Amino acid sequence: MSASTPVIRIQNLWTQFGQSVVHQDVSLEVGQGEILSLVGGSGSGKTTLLRQMLGLERPTRGSVEVFGENIHRINGVRLQRLRNRWGMLFQQGALFSALTAFDNVAQPMRELRTLPEDLIRDAALLKLDMVGIRPVDALKMPADLSGGMVKRVALARALALEPELLFLDEPTAGLDPDRSDNFVALIRTLHQAMRLTVVMVTHDLDTLFALSTRIAVLADRHVIASGTPEEVIRVQHPFIEHFFLGGRGRRALEVLNQAS
Ligand SMILES: Nc1ncnc2c1ncn2[C@@H]1O[C@H](COP(=O)(O)OP(=O)(O)OP(=O)(O)O)[C@@H](O)[C@H]1O
Ligand SMILES: [Mg+2]
Repeated sequence: MSASTPVIRIQNLWTQFGQSVVHQDVSLEVGQGEILSLVGGSGSGKTTLLRQMLGLERPTRGSVEVFGENIHRINGVRLQRLRNRWGMLFQQGALFSALTAFDNVAQPMRELRTLPEDLIRDAALLKLDMVGIRPVDALKMPADLSGGMVKRVALARALALEPELLFLDEPTAGLDPDRSDNFVALIRTLHQAMRLTVVMVTHDLDTLFALSTRIAVLADRHVIASGTPEEVIRVQHPFIEHFFLGGRGRRALEVLNQAS
């Protein structure tokens, strides 16, 4: 993979479930170091597109390359090696319910079978500390944690293998404003320190404007706009007007303008 190869390249992708066409000829690239936010109405196919990037779901047509490899054409060791280069935070948190928070974060490191347990312990506690989970909570089972804590543990797990690429599906949904701000600061730090590439789905306009280097908008089965936040909000489309320029959007934009 050369320096100019995009981290992700989606070409002419179609997705159909029964009679319903979710994506129609979608093409999208994500370059190294970008924080790309995917926005779109509920059911517009954001999570499905993420799952296709992870190789968890196969598009009806078209290709998805990650780190230069066609994700739907590889398997076994090659696919596993690629998986170790990214982290994923699912929309529903998705922790192993039978494992403590600590063991959930340690699990991807244990699966590598190359790291000694004391190093795994230190790394897992460090990741949990980064997301604001104290050691006393690390020993709890997921069922005994709050929704926001489950989300933060899931983020710690996504970061366990120090990924080059991070997928986030609604990372701040269900977090209180302070936690959301902490989350934004954490992603920004990781992005700067490790040149992390991020693909994120979010409805949260504060998070969206605080982090995105680029926004892609899914509507009418297409990517109807892709560009910087300033470019995208100027595109005339009913979804964009409703999403960005309703009351919520105006307030977030004011904050953006004050910051720049
Ligand atoms: N495995 C599947 N089988 C059938 N239909 C599916 C499947 N997965 C997704 N869909 C449908 O595809 C559409 C897109 O779903 P998706 O979960 O990608 O939406 P989304 O943009 O993530 O929505 P939200 O913002 O509500 O999370 C929906 O209509 C959904 O019902
Ligand atoms: Mg979704």
